[in-house]
Amino acid sequence: MSDPLTLGVAGLGTVGMGLIQLLAAHAPRLQQMLGRSVKVTGVSARSRDKERGGGLDDVRWFDDPVALARDPSNQVFVELIGGEEGPAKAAIEAALRAKKHVVTANKALLAKHGIALARLAEENGVALNFEAAVAGGIPIIKTLREALAANRVKRVYGILNGTCNFILTKMTDEHMSFADALREAQELGYAEADPSFDVGGFDAAHKLSLLVSLAFGTVIDFDRIHVEGIEAITTADIAAAAELGYSIKLLGVASDTEDGVEARVTPVLVAEESALAEVSGVTNCVGIDGDFAGNLLLVGPGAGAKPTASAVASDIVDIARGLVMPPFIRSTNVLAPARGLDLGTHLGNYYVRLYVYDRPGAMAAITRRMSDENVSLESIVQKRPGRGVHPGQAAEPPPGAAEPAVNVILITHDTTEDAMRKALWAIEADGHVAERPQMIRIEDL
Ligand code: NDP
Ligand code: HSE
Repeated sequence: MSDPLTLGVAGLGTVGMGLIQLLAAHAPRLQQMLGRSVKVTGVSARSRDKERGGGLDDVRWFDDPVALARDPSNQVFVELIGGEEGPAKAAIEAALRAKKHVVTANKALLAKHGIALARLAEENGVALNFEAAVAGGIPIIKTLREALAANRVKRVYGILNGTCNFILTKMTDEHMSFADALREAQELGYAEADPSFDVGGFDAAHKLSLLVSLAFGTVIDFDRIHVEGIEAITTADIAAAAELGYSIKLLGVASDTEDGVEARVTPVLVAEESALAEVSGVTNCVGIDGDFAGNLLLVGPGAGAKPTASAVASDIVDIARGLVMPPFIRSTNVLAPARGLDLGTHLGNYYVRLYVYDRPGAMAAITRRMSDENVSLESIVQKRPGRGVHPGQAAEPPPGAAEPAVNVILITHDTTEDAMRKALWAIEADGHVAERPQMIRIEDL
């Protein structure tokens, strides 16, 4: 029997303790499969006195994760602290320089420093594995790296943030408030330490930036991803979308076109009969269009202790088996420069909700602004005051206004993002609407 594979684990929160529990629960299985045991020899977290539920009796405690990363008692450093700078980055760098394999779930760090860290791993001949960083328990990194290695991927998309999907599902199915749904997601361990990363769309964009690099063979370019979160989605939008046969999802979409890579994370409307509409709660899904494999859709839990620990453990198993591959599939030397494309040229249908003052000429002015930008309308629905999309509010004047307002829902034919933005700026400036127009892309997926 070979010597055990020894681990130093930094971060003993949701994911770190999930991993400790998984390694304990599956110790015999791993030993049989790998011909050696997997043993945690050192750990680090912020508070030594915190009650963590056991499993840490025989391990050495390190106050400083960098000291743990450098300590020769472990062969693999597992970073589960989080944060794009600070101790997580310092400890990963220290481990790679000490020629240790690294496993991390930290997409925020990788989106910013992934290529530099991958280069460091390559220079030192060690692995930098991050299966858990994208879509929790779904094995999407391995799918791109191994199963689809011989495909040209043209598009990758998906529901990449469990917290947002959980919130939107709760708001839709249980009419829960945004704040209550977010609180529940935090209690369940789904949300980031700073939940504005989730609801602001940034966490999904971190993940999409990694998928873009893996799928299209380019360096990571987080700053060229167009990011919108779900904070502005109201119960009015959810109700209006449902009446029109749509669900609202936060979706990341990246397409490799001849002109460049269009990458965006935004709320979208998807048809109720689409597979994406079926993805509820904390579940994620990732779709990939490969030129030979065709369209694949992988669905599974996107956050939480057990699914994420499962992904982290799969990276450890690869290392135990001696698999060391370039972190971004190809050597960092051959990754192409990023080719981010401005979203202004994006062509699609749009949902628009306008809270319009109920006055003569308002609708004529709105449709004129649309036609000025060549935006053609597929449908216009004006809600009767007090009905449908602004419950309890529509018959009354909006706060601070003297006139009542009604919700008007517009669906456009294909048009460009630039044209939509110009039309909506003009409509807002004309003063016929009581709040900022809501615009949501309609996605045919
Ligand atoms: P938690 O907030 O639950 O845990 C973070 C851990 O890091 C805690 O144990 C904390 O210590 C420790 N920590 C914080 N600062 C330091 C420090 N300076 N030195 C040493 N330890 C420190 O986070 P999660 O487990 O939820 O997330 C960990 C990582 O996994 C993040 O990168 C996250 O994005 C990623 N991830 C999370 C998923 C999830 O579902 N939660 C899913 C996929 C990825 P203490 O306990 O003492 O406070
Ligand atoms: N906060 C993240 C989410 C964790 O909700 O998806 C998984 O990456």
